[in-house]
Amino acid sequence: MEKTKNRGFLESKATFESLRPCFLVMSKLQIKTYPDNVLRKKADEVDGVEEVEDLIKEMKETLREVEGVGLAAPQVGVSKQVFVVKDGHDYFAFMNPEIVERGEETITTKEGCLSFPDFWTDVERSKRVKIEALTENGERMLLEAEGIGAVVFQHEIDHLFGKLFIDELGFLKRAKMKLSLLLK
Ligand code: NI
Repeated sequence: MEKTKNRGFLESKATFESLRPCFLVMSKLQIKTYPDNVLRKKADEVDGVEEVEDLIKEMKETLREVEGVGLAAPQVGVSKQVFVVKDGHDYFAFMNPEIVERGEETITTKEGCLSFPDFWTDVERSKRVKIEALTENGERMLLEAEGIGAVVFQHEIDHLFGKLFIDELGFLKRAKMKLSLLLK
């Protein structure tokens, strides 16, 4: 059955062309890359989960397709305080987050960002953070993250305030970053 259908696609160009708009609708959200202005704007708080339900679904789908670990709404051109993260095989969304506590210890890891294709650099961040955020269930929750989890949360929350992982880079590394984006 499936085979017959596939052969139909290949044999009839007209059918394939007519299906094209469908593929476009189904495709993932477009990821904005540096230096798009939306990446520098402070995102608006959301009033509730209902307001961003569809966006969350699409962001999770997009993150799955690009095999990333975190995605913030400004990265898909929506200036709202929403981000999704991957944990194992699961995807979670958080809204209106606030870092309420930072541990004194720091951790330096090589970070990348979907808005900076093919660029990675060492970034130093707090090793442990406590975050208050609205979950998909509409509950305001207190979360504690450590290590890589803490890094991902800080990176995504920064996005919601127009802050990027390249902001602390020196002149040379920044030049390298710009070059890598030009060569992309
Ligand atoms: Ni990022």
